[in-house]
Formats: sequence, structure tokens, C-alpha cells
Amino acid sequence: MSQVLCIRGGHPLRGAVVAQGSKNATLPIMAAALLLKGGKLRLKRVPNLLDIATMADLLKYLGVCVDFDNHEMSIDVPEEISWETPPSLVRKMRASSLVLGPLLSRCGKAVLPLPGGCAIGSRPIDLHLKGLSKMGASIEVAHGAVTAEARELRGTRIYLDFPSVGATENVLMAAVFAKGETLIENAAREPEIANLAQALREMGADISGEGTGIIRIRGVDALHDAEVEIIPDRIEASTYLLAGVITGGEVTVKGVILEHLDALLAKLEEAGATVARNEGEVKAYVKNKLHSINVKTLPYPGFPTDLQPQMMALLSLASGTSVIREEIFEARFLHVGDLKRMGAAIEVQGNMAIVKGCPELMGCDVKATDLRAGAALILAGLAAKGETRVHALQHIWRGYEQIEEKIASLGASLNLTEMAEEEVKW
Ligand code: EPZ
Repeated sequence: MSQVLCIRGGHPLRGAVVAQGSKNATLPIMAAALLLKGGKLRLKRVPNLLDIATMADLLKYLGVCVDFDNHEMSIDVPEEISWETPPSLVRKMRASSLVLGPLLSRCGKAVLPLPGGCAIGSRPIDLHLKGLSKMGASIEVAHGAVTAEARELRGTRIYLDFPSVGATENVLMAAVFAKGETLIENAAREPEIANLAQALREMGADISGEGTGIIRIRGVDALHDAEVEIIPDRIEASTYLLAGVITGGEVTVKGVILEHLDALLAKLEEAGATVARNEGEVKAYVKNKLHSINVKTLPYPGFPTDLQPQMMALLSLASGTSVIREEIFEARFLHVGDLKRMGAAIEVQGNMAIVKGCPELMGCDVKATDLRAGAALILAGLAAKGETRVHALQHIWRGYEQIEEKIASLGASLNLTEMAEEEVKW
């Protein structure tokens, strides 16, 4: 038996929801707490998600106390912590690799089982390791684990071959105590990195340039207690905006930072939707049918790869043919199969998906393969005729807090139920 989300489509969603705190800002900031030696980091607006619980378990395994209640988290880090991470937790969540830089920096050593690939690609960490070794760490990869050691990390210039979010975050955290100045060039510019830099500055780090592509870090001797507010989750917020548009309704998302949504809002307007921006909130709706557009995923501020599956669901119902190019991950089209089973006309050619808009989608049994693919299938089910039953919900609960309640509050007809495997009609 497993939990399944049953959605009866065709109801226009209307109303307002508040964006959760950003999962992808919270995870690196939780890892950054490891840089404290006998200190406390308090976080506000932390989303209640499976991935956050996994990172909390990892910190606890290392000897850290983590208290989390009502979106507020307190992380108490003792003088001494372990530097060896458990395979079970690291393999559960790739973002566990974000403890590598902090552990190496404050313990002089770190052992990290190689994080597995996942449904969207192999997801190596070569750029992380290249940056750390440039700072003087000795890196050994053997028996499926990375062992990093450094008596002292030295500040240096590090050019990232690709503006990797995780590599930027790991090198940034490792540079906080490094001797001298570190320059990270071709750094990722995502807002989550700016939130991490701001959190580290609150703790006493000397960092500037985040968001510009060149981040400058001057080494300090120690960090101190701090309190940090997590930024809103731009991907979760965008997903609810798209839920309003795909169902022919009108959804307002509150508690957002508008500039973080620029790429999505521009593409929605290009496709014929109306977007109303207000202080800290945004509404989107479409007066008549959306028309096709072309989308290419790029590092921030380009169109986010984490919205590519959801946008594909939307364009499956637009008039005309859209072309979606996935430039960030090598295998992020696993949602195509189930969208086609719902009636979408999509042809994949390498990293390009050609989406021929169709008049309607039909509900059926579908399975989430990863977090954002699952969100896309929910959007499709909300717009489809008949009932869509979404399986493997654990992927979705990794990143969407109370998604059933939030969608139901907007007028959707859905319920959670238990189903035996044999009842499923694949
Ligand atoms: C972060 O993953 C996000 N996760 C992802 O969100 C997001 O899709 C991704 O950035 C891109 O925006 C978190 O922040 C926890 P990358 P990350 O390093 O850091 C390749 C979600 O749904 N690469 O920027 O792993 C990599 O294989 C998740 O919330 C290397 O080749 O992304 C990928 O093709 C999914 N070597 C590309 O770069 C490296 O050393 C982008 O990866 C590192 C990355």
C-alpha cells in the first residue's frame, strides 16, 4: 500500500497562497552552521520538508543539536563535531554534499560518500572538489567516498568551468576561514547563494560580490551566533502561479521577492498570460488560450531548470508548437512519458522537447520520478479531464510544504488515499 494523490481536474484555481521559505536556500545555510565552534544559528521561515529533515538528521549525526518548530530552527554547534558523514543520509539527498566545505574548513578533514546521481542526471561533484583542491585540500576518491584533508586552506582565484550552484556554495563556505583572499569567478548567481552569503556575513564572515558572478571572500578566524531569515521559495511560488494559469483560474502568491521570478513572469506574459505585480505579491491568469513559446533553461537569471517540467505541462495545453531546451541537466525529461500518457503531444530530441499543444489532457495513473517532475504531473492533473492519481508522492514532499492543503485552499478537488500496487492501471 502507498499514499496516492487523487485529483479530479477541470476546476479553475482561484485565491491566494503564501510562499514557503526556500528549500534551496535553507539547505546550504544549515550546512554553513557547521562553521560555528560552540555557537548557535537561528533560522526563520524554514520550510517543513523532507529534505530539511534529512539535513537536520545529517547535522545531528555529526554531533549538532537541531530544534525545529513552526518554521523556526535553532542549530547549536559544539566545539567538537564529527567529520565523517553516513552513506545512508548522503545517498538520500545530493545536497548533503554541501557539508563538505564547512567540515573541511573547520575540522581540517571530511569524509563524504559520493552522492548518487538521481533521476535528472549523473550530478557529479568534480567542480566542488577541483575548487577545494585549488585551496590546498588533498582529495582522495576511493571506495565510493571522498576523503578531503587540509591542515590549512589558502585563499586563491578559483574559476568554475560551469556556474554550479553547489560548487559555488561549497567553495564559498570553505573560503570563510582560508588564509588570505579567495575569488570565485564564474560563480553561480542564484538568489539562494546571496541568502547564504548574507547568512555568513551575519555570522561574521567577510564576503562581497554575491550575485555578480565574482564572489570575494577574505578569511576570518571565527564566526559567531546569528539569526537569519530564509528568502521565499521562488520555485514553489512559481508552481502555484502556474497552477492558476493552467486551470484557467487566477492565483495570487504572497510573500515573494518579485525580481526572483522575473524569468518565469516574462515567459508567462510572452505566452499570453496577464501578470499583476504588487508589493511582495504577484497574480497570474489568462483571459483566453495561451499560445506556444520557446523556453531554454539557463543558470540564474535565466529561466530556471526547476520550472522546466511545470512549464512543459502548461505548454502541453497552449495553442501551437513550443520548443523547450534543457541546458542544465542531461536527463530532465522523465516527466514526458506520463504527460504523453495523459494525451500530451511531446517529442524529445536530445536535450530538446517539441511540445505540440493539444485541446485537453485526460487523467490517469502517473508516477513522480523527481521533485519537479512530480509537480508538473500535479499541474497536468489539475487541468485534465477526469481523475489523475499521482504516485511516489515522497518525491514531491521533499520540496513542497502542505501541497495538498495549499491546492485544496485554491478550490481544487483532490484527496490522499492508500492504494495497493495491483490496483494501479499503468
Ligand atoms: C542546485 O543543484 C539545486 N539544488 C537544484 O534544485 C537545481 O536544479 C540546480 O541547482 C540548478 O539550478 C539545491 O540547491 C539543493 P548545479 P546543484 O551544481 O547544486 C553539473 C530542486 O529541484 N555539475 O548547479 O546540484 C550538474 O551535473 C533541485 O530543488 C557538474 O558537472 O546544481 C548539472 O548538470 C533539483 N559538476 C549542472 O552542473 C559539478 O561539480 C548544474 O548543477 C557540479 C555540477
